Amino acid sequence: MSNVAVIGAQWGDEGKGKIVDWLSERADAVVRFQGGHNAGHTLVIGNQTYKLSLLPSGVVRGGKLSFIGNGVVLDPWALLAEIAKLGAQGVHIGPDKLFIAENTPLILPPHRELDQMREEAAGASRIGTTGRGIGPAYEDKAGRRAIRLADLADPETLEARLDRFLAHHDALRKGLGAAPIDRAALKAALEEIAPQVLPFAAPVWLRLSELRKQGAKVLFEGAQGALLDVDFGTYPYVTSSNTMAGQAASGSGMGPGAVGYVLGIAKAYTTRVGAGPFPTELFDAIGERLGERGHEFGTVTGRKRRCGWFDAALVRQTIATAGIHGIALTKLDVLDGLDEIRIGVGYEIDGVRHDHLPTAAALQAKAKPIYETLPGWSESTQGARRWADLPAAAIKYVKRLEELIDCPVALLSTSPEREDTILVTDPFAGSDSR
Ligand code: IMP
Repeated sequence: MSNVAVIGAQWGDEGKGKIVDWLSERADAVVRFQGGHNAGHTLVIGNQTYKLSLLPSGVVRGGKLSFIGNGVVLDPWALLAEIAKLGAQGVHIGPDKLFIAENTPLILPPHRELDQMREEAAGASRIGTTGRGIGPAYEDKAGRRAIRLADLADPETLEARLDRFLAHHDALRKGLGAAPIDRAALKAALEEIAPQVLPFAAPVWLRLSELRKQGAKVLFEGAQGALLDVDFGTYPYVTSSNTMAGQAASGSGMGPGAVGYVLGIAKAYTTRVGAGPFPTELFDAIGERLGERGHEFGTVTGRKRRCGWFDAALVRQTIATAGIHGIALTKLDVLDGLDEIRIGVGYEIDGVRHDHLPTAAALQAKAKPIYETLPGWSESTQGARRWADLPAAAIKYVKRLEELIDCPVALLSTSPEREDTILVTDPFAGSDSR
């Protein structure tokens, strides 16, 4: 198992960026395979903070190759802005280091406008999207009217693609009371950006296949989380892509055997941004405290995240659906100083106990969490770098989570700092240091 896929085991924002950055030291290449610039990955390295949305988290390490696979939806303007921002921080990204699949569908300004118009029109039933045009871009991919990166290289193809794109979008916009798309302006914008993004275009599947033959180690970087998966998440309050490890293969052009070890990232509690069910959500002072101590504000939208207890029933579910081999548990230190800590172990719905969250929306709405309560700890776990540095109650909490989710904790992160990480099992090698 030489490759590793990192995916979120909850509703996103689990701290994947730090773990991917940390693991990327052991990898030769980092690959994004789904989502777009709706993701927000924060890396804290020394006194520098890097905020990434679209670029693989390995880009800040020199010498690593970065790939954006076909499973991603790419806003070329957001890409260039992010490259420029990192350039200003001293991280220079060129076409020798970053490769973007030629068959990646583009997010265009009308996708963003449609996303926002729909959310506004939906009122109270809005999804709470990031407003980046992610959903409409995936719809166009499945609807076979996407403009893909390679299309920018040929004016005739671009014209034909624009015909299909406008025929659909102008009809939709009419229904929403919006003006038709200014075709000339859109075309001119695409022609202007083409020479800036095309140098990054590559047959990513081929590059990855070559790397595989050379025995290179590949790290697949998931975005969002398993509970936002378009199939297995809390539909319709989900994102529009498959966020599971299976997507790493089809979203990059490698076979399923290439994925190897699947590392699920989970916070020691739970957060969610946007609308939708969240059975263990807290509306009290403890919820506020988790939000404050955990700095729970969205990296992309700045929205306040909803906070609650760890939901072991849901994580157990995502471990099964996503094929997770080990968990990286993050933000344990946010729980420091609590008298007691609760863990959701199942749900009571109409007087009946359920060990998993049913799919039906009406049942999800009625699900009351069943809790197990454990003693908290007063000591600080922040910055712990060895298992032995943790207070006994914190170790007990982690061990109990492992039992409840039926999966080992492979890594423990105790602060945003790169080195504040306890390695239990190396996903690339499989050693156990506990
Ligand atoms: P979209 O991906 O912008 O369409 O948003 C759909 C749902 O996914 C909303 O609830 C968003 O808040 C959520 N979402 C999208 N990206 C992220 C992320 O990176 N972290 C957490 N939630 C996200």
